[in-house]
Amino acid sequence: MKEVFTAQKISDKVYWVGAVDWNVRNFHGYLTGRGSTYNAFLVLDKKITLIDTVKAPFAEEMFSRIRSVIGEVDKIDYIVSNHSEPDHSGALPAAIEAIKPEKIFASAAGEKNLKAYSGTDLDITTVKTGESISIGDDTLTFVETKMLHWPDSMVSYLAGEKMLFTQDAFGMHLAGSSLYADEYPRHILEYEAKKYFANILLHLSGKVIALLDSLPGLDLDIQMILPDHGPLWRTPEDIAWILGKYREFAEQKNTRGALVFYATMWGSTAKMANALADGLREGGVQVECASLDVNDRSDIMTKVMDAAIVAAGSPTMNNQLFPSVADVLTYLSGLKPQNKIGYAFGSYGWSGEAVKKIADSMFAMNMALPVEPCKVKYRPTEADLKKLHDDGLALAEQLKKG
Ligand code: FEO
Repeated sequence: MKEVFTAQKISDKVYWVGAVDWNVRNFHGYLTGRGSTYNAFLVLDKKITLIDTVKAPFAEEMFSRIRSVIGEVDKIDYIVSNHSEPDHSGALPAAIEAIKPEKIFASAAGEKNLKAYSGTDLDITTVKTGESISIGDDTLTFVETKMLHWPDSMVSYLAGEKMLFTQDAFGMHLAGSSLYADEYPRHILEYEAKKYFANILLHLSGKVIALLDSLPGLDLDIQMILPDHGPLWRTPEDIAWILGKYREFAEQKNTRGALVFYATMWGSTAKMANALADGLREGGVQVECASLDVNDRSDIMTKVMDAAIVAAGSPTMNNQLFPSVADVLTYLSGLKPQNKIGYAFGSYGWSGEAVKKIADSMFAMNMALPVEPCKVKYRPTEADLKKLHDDGLALAEQLKKG
């Protein structure tokens, strides 16, 4: 019987058997505007091996794709779990039930996580960096990538095919019918890869650089990088491009000028934001002014990643930050952007605590704060707006000084 879903052939031995989540928009708080994929891979050898699984609701889609290649899922012998987060292991209990695999391989931390998530005492064979397993004619070698981005994370290298299966690393949230990066417009790849890095990996930049530095020493001839989200990298140019982008992202050189983000209740903080942005522009800085009414936290994070100046504005509401500003600052502080000049501003009616809270949060993130915060009561006057404009000029001057 023809299957509803079919696998995509990558090579004579390797098939994509994952799932496309076309309409996911909220991925644990990350706005996935182009949906996502959960990539899983079937390797045909004497020991038929499944590398990673999919999010739980997509288990049947994965099984259908597997059946389209080998007829019955219980022909699989081995399952490798490179990463235990539920978007890649949610379907594992169903897979174990259907496949009854001879062996399941994961890192030691992966074993703990998979047992905890599944709530069962899974029989897992743990593997360490440098360990290899024979799957017949070919060999899988494992390299642990602890905290990139979970303690359990590891990558698997299929020597005969020269393929590196990298779980989340080098992936992006991008649903599509094409399997390979070279089949997508470059600007979409660049945006979604950057967004993924900004929202998932930015706080781990040092570990990313260490991993990139260690790659030549691993002596792997990599002809394809196969992440667990989005398109696969199959040409030498594309592999070099994504590795180069990861280094660029991790170095946090802040190539774009300034981001001003704000929330507003009755328009006062918005006026301040616009005056500040205009001062930055006049000072020669490329600036983007983003209201939190229409910009999701994950889009703000993407803009923050390559902004040298980050200005945040909030009204004071019940002695606190406006909730959407508090949300973004909390999110930002976890992702630890580096090398930023910060600036705080906002309007208030009675007490005006919000501006200091922004400045304190920026200080805690090691942002330089060379220009005094600015707060105005009720509604900014012409003089207040001129002051904001001048603060924009002053920030631009600071940026030029370096
Ligand atoms: Fe795609 Fe960290 O899971």
